Amino acid sequence: MIYITRKFHFSASHRLYKEGFSDEENFKKYGMCSNPNGHGHNYILEVTVGGEVDPETAFVLNLKELKDIVQTSLISKVDHKNLNLDVDFMKGIIPSTENIVIQIWNIIKPLIDNGQRKLHSIKLQETENNYVEYKG
Ligand code: NI
Repeated sequence: MIYITRKFHFSASHRLYKEGFSDEENFKKYGMCSNPNGHGHNYILEVTVGGEVDPETAFVLNLKELKDIVQTSLISKVDHKNLNLDVDFMKGIIPSTENIVIQIWNIIKPLIDNGQRKLHSIKLQETENNYVEYKG
């Protein structure tokens, strides 16, 4: 099995808070990330697909195809958006890096997997000091 990774970037804002908690309780739980008016991140997303090399093309998959899939199904829906308010698949979900990555997995996996290849992992970096990796 060979693994190929493509990187994507998007910028989005969010607020981490629990519905029904006061601002003070949310601050205790989420610190600065619960700022009522939100804050932004420049996210770096890495999508890794595993498969065998197709002898016809010499690729596991065409990177242009991967780019188009992720761009259309995901990046266009989150880039320059507020994750709490603007993004349908995050409605009612606390937009932690963990939760975002699970949603991304659920969206792109059926678009990538076929008999020859499958989604192997997704990494989402929120700041230069932390990232989350998900393998389903
Ligand atoms: Ni944040």
